[in-house]
Amino acid sequence: MEFHVYESARAACEAAGMLIAAQITRKGDSVLGLATGSTPVPAYEKLVQWYQKGVIDFDRIRTFNLDEYVGIDHKNPLSYHAFMQEHLFSKVNLRPENVHLPSGHSAAAGKAYDDAIRAAGGIDIQLLGIGRNGHIGFNEPAKEFTYGTHVVTLTQNTIEANARFFKSADEVPRQAISMGIGNIMAAKCVVLVATGESKAEAVYKTIRGPITPEVPASILQLHPCCVILTDREAGSLMKD
Ligand code: PGA
Repeated sequence: MEFHVYESARAACEAAGMLIAAQITRKGDSVLGLATGSTPVPAYEKLVQWYQKGVIDFDRIRTFNLDEYVGIDHKNPLSYHAFMQEHLFSKVNLRPENVHLPSGHSAAAGKAYDDAIRAAGGIDIQLLGIGRNGHIGFNEPAKEFTYGTHVVTLTQNTIEANARFFKSADEVPRQAISMGIGNIMAAKCVVLVATGESKAEAVYKTIRGPITPEVPASILQLHPCCVILTDREAGSLMKD
């Protein structure tokens, strides 16, 4: 595991954008694993800027997002489909047929997503945020790790964390469809970004804690190419 601390949240997020841009530069038909949430926004801003300057090209890039809410229309501005349109897809030359987000709420929908990732040759670089409870994607703390894309029931912690995007916690969908830990671990490289004091404990447990499904991100200790980027606050418990 590599761990880098930055002076600001923006710098940590932009560094993640840089790693993705480097991947695109080295392999024009890369498969990107993408994430939603507040954390990745500056990374997408940088990718858009580099695209506009002609530094990177998305013409042959394929993307697979981590997750989506169940029971929310894709046109709903709070859906992850809409988030990705707003922050990246509508601003670069990604081909619509090359972008993928999980959808549906059945085991078959999950398997179809796993098959699509495999058919694309697997994910070259997976961008991740992290929940305060150590979740990655919507892989919530649990008794065991889940391998493939699956439907999850969100924990109260996550519902409360995501309520800021909705009018109230009552409006947050209770279920989501998410890549599993197996999908994430199969990515050739993983870049996890964490910012803010509220993520400090999750970062500490991810890097120093026991590997346990109760802290889903802790399994990244076993990933052969995992880079964790934080600001000072999120890295504050990593003293030595
Ligand atoms: P955030 O979400 O970037 O909005 O904090 C991260 C996550 O829950 O994975």
